[in-house]
Amino acid sequence: MDLFEYQARDLFEKHGVPVLRAKVAETPEEAKQAAEELGGGTVVVKAQVKVGGRGKAGGVKLAKSPDEAAEKAKEILGLDIKGHETKKVMIAEGADIAEEYYFSVLLDRSERTYLAMCSKEGGMEIEQLAVERPEALARVPVNALTGIDEAKAREIVEAAGFDDQVGPKIVPVLQKLWDVFKEEDATLVEVNPLVKTGAGDIVALDGKVSLDDNADFRHKDHEELRDISAEDPLELKAKKLGLNYVKLDGQVGIIGNGAGLVMSTLDVVAYAGEKHDGVKPANFLDIGGGASAEVMANGLDVILGDDQVKSVFVNVFGGITACDAVANGIVKALEILGDSATKPLVVRLDGNKVEEGRQILKDANNPLVTLTDTMDAGADKAAELAAAN
Ligand SMILES: Nc1ncnc2c1ncn2[C@@H]1O[C@H](COP(=O)(O)OP(=O)(O)OP(=O)(O)O)[C@@H](O)[C@H]1O
Ligand SMILES: [Mg+2]
Repeated sequence: MDLFEYQARDLFEKHGVPVLRAKVAETPEEAKQAAEELGGGTVVVKAQVKVGGRGKAGGVKLAKSPDEAAEKAKEILGLDIKGHETKKVMIAEGADIAEEYYFSVLLDRSERTYLAMCSKEGGMEIEQLAVERPEALARVPVNALTGIDEAKAREIVEAAGFDDQVGPKIVPVLQKLWDVFKEEDATLVEVNPLVKTGAGDIVALDGKVSLDDNADFRHKDHEELRDISAEDPLELKAKKLGLNYVKLDGQVGIIGNGAGLVMSTLDVVAYAGEKHDGVKPANFLDIGGGASAEVMANGLDVILGDDQVKSVFVNVFGGITACDAVANGIVKALEILGDSATKPLVVRLDGNKVEEGRQILKDANNPLVTLTDTMDAGADKAAELAAAN
């Protein structure tokens, strides 16, 4: 989960990273009040959207008085930044910036380790710097067990070329940013710019944090950081039901057991769809090993709730969960769903107790269900039905 800047700022503050005072506003009046509460001096009004390059898009503006803060907020609220609508602004104290730096720590999957990146040249788009002058961006691997301790922080600061004046002031800030990364289970903590003020203090002026959803169980407090309004309602529903579901943009609903099988099912359906009006898979849904009737019903319920779905392909390879159990699950699921199940279902079963499973579906004789012998035939039938509906 990506956080808004103001949420990242709060996490920074919690872990002792130096930040500026700031408040969130949803209307120009609130922005004015926030600026007053911050002392009535110069503030910065910043669009809160989960996308980079806000400044260039007109989403970061200086305001010299609370009235001006209201004006700037009026300009920025509602602004579309790369397809993201600005619903909130952050009002932050204005900083007296002497220099802008860059720092980030992230999970480097290709190297199977953590990576810290640091530069004396922050502020501008770091991707551009990395391409044009890679030598200006220090890249230092970080061991997961030792993290960014004082020695590692010094190594990073030296690699970035900071002098003896500034370097020692940055070291403790990097250690605290590592605390944020580690203790909040983040996969990215980025500060651009990390600034030196006229008074020589180091402050994080901007923050980007991505949290690892796999660690949610360790952080009950992260739940409230979630931006429900921006989430897909079907994915939200699936999450509540404990389903492993990802919404896609096609017409053929997919249910399978095991992530690998579901992934290949998406491929064969997309391939079959080329012959049938270009229909595509509508979702990823892995019902896992224990495909009980309830799990099957929940899965079908979510998929059938997607208006774009015109047919469903159930592709199951019986292993520990035998095909008869899956077939019973489908029959019961259709009973549970009753009249709300109206779209055709193509079922391909194979593996453990396949004959028993097929017999159960044949006996149930539900007009919505078509049985196929192979995965390719099932994908083709499901695509054909989706194109016809
Ligand atoms: N509190 C502040 N006081 C003074 N200047 C600021 C403040 N916050 C930001 N700025 C200036 O605005 C610039 C852009 O701000 P910021 O980094 O937050 O947005 P951005 O880089 O455009 O957005 P993103 O990081 O999402 O790409 C900063 O580089 C800094 O020069
Ligand atoms: Mg920035």
